[in-house]
Amino acid sequence: MVFHTVARVGELEPGDIKPVNVDGADIIVYRVADTYYASQRSCLHQGGDLADGLISRGLLICPLHGWQFHAHSGVHQLSPETCLRTYAVRVSGDEIQIDPTPRVEANYPGEPR
Ligand code: FES
Repeated sequence: MVFHTVARVGELEPGDIKPVNVDGADIIVYRVADTYYASQRSCLHQGGDLADGLISRGLLICPLHGWQFHAHSGVHQLSPETCLRTYAVRVSGDEIQIDPTPRVEANYPGEPR
């Protein structure tokens, strides 16, 4: 694992989403309560920019059509097979760091029903 610093502790308030590019990968890092997570920036549905989305009740919500992903796992709320690509995040000192090697690869078998 090779971690890259993408933000400082205190830079993100709960509910904040920050777009970052690490080794050419467009990623968002976001904060839920006191925990940080990271996933792909582009929504699985039609590429909505999740950096413009919302964090609410533990869900990451796409701004385009409202798909909701569990913030901690990237799994779609209604379709457990549908999952965003997610990345490992750690806090080292006052630095928030991401490993750009996917922790879980994206999966999109088709539109949830
Ligand atoms: S592009 Fe994200 S819900 Fe449609």
